[in-house]
Amino acid sequence: MTPLLQRLLTVLSDGELHSGQDLAAAVGLSRTAIWKHLQQMATFDVAIESARGRGYRLPGGLELLDRERILAALTPRARALLGELQVLASIDSTNSQVRRQPNASQPLAVLAECQTAGRGRLGRTWVSPFGRNLYLSVGWSFSDGAASLAGLSLAVGVAAHRALTAIGVTGLGLKWPNDILRDRHKVGGILLEVTGDPAGSCQVIVGIGINVAMPHAAAVAIEQPWADLADVGEVTRNGLAAAVLSELLPVLADFPTTGFAAYQEEWELHDAYRGARVRIATPGTQIEGIARGVTAGGALRLDVDGREHLINGGEMCLRGVP
Ligand code: BTN
Repeated sequence: MTPLLQRLLTVLSDGELHSGQDLAAAVGLSRTAIWKHLQQMATFDVAIESARGRGYRLPGGLELLDRERILAALTPRARALLGELQVLASIDSTNSQVRRQPNASQPLAVLAECQTAGRGRLGRTWVSPFGRNLYLSVGWSFSDGAASLAGLSLAVGVAAHRALTAIGVTGLGLKWPNDILRDRHKVGGILLEVTGDPAGSCQVIVGIGINVAMPHAAAVAIEQPWADLADVGEVTRNGLAAAVLSELLPVLADFPTTGFAAYQEEWELHDAYRGARVRIATPGTQIEGIARGVTAGGALRLDVDGREHLINGGEMCLRGVP
């Protein structure tokens, strides 16, 4: 999205009617050029209404991400831990954006209004329309190798659960390995990507997507039962971003000393499938049993006919069996 479109959108984000003349003055363009630019918003699924002779309106308005508001709402510890916060209008994927900046001051957090190639687990697409949801990635360096990261993605799930609870969201649950559920539908997902030396210093990119007010036109592309926070009063995306960073950064900072063991009990408390019959599918196999919680290393404990199998993350997909 061009800076000019961003400026137009900022003016229109209040949901009020703005005359072509006012918009033109705000961005330094001619009135005739305004409509041409506003039409480009359709590319981002932002529908601008034009009222003949009266001006333009963005029905319902839009809460845009505001870097300063987010920074001001962080807890002191999170603020001290954060190296840099980037807020972008449009990017392919916030995870990719973190990966492209190895020299940014660390830890680097990237938020975007939309992702043109948002990525989910198992090679799926993460539906990322403009201005309605949360797309956040944080890059964090660990020095003790990939093995020390066991259970990290589940600990991130606990952080996201804490953040959503803190802003008043109810009906939450966690689904192994790292889905965030609301009323048993997926409201958020976590994508961890690790680069560097598997035995030494590595960088983890933690990507979190949370559906805040998913537009129905975009939702048709989601291939699983989904939820959002549209019915929760007073949720702001800036408040949610600050809440997630406030919970996430301390979890990442403490993880080398605590490991997942410190979060295991809390994870199990919110486990939406504990005691349920589930099927674990990998690309080639599937195994069915009763979910019995997780180990201190984040593996799923699956009871298969009375024998415990430990299932580690990776290319796994858990489904409830009716
Ligand atoms: C999942 O499949 O459940 C994981 C979804 C992760 C989506 C987030 S949105 C921010 C970050 N950028 C991406 O491209 N993916 C993650």
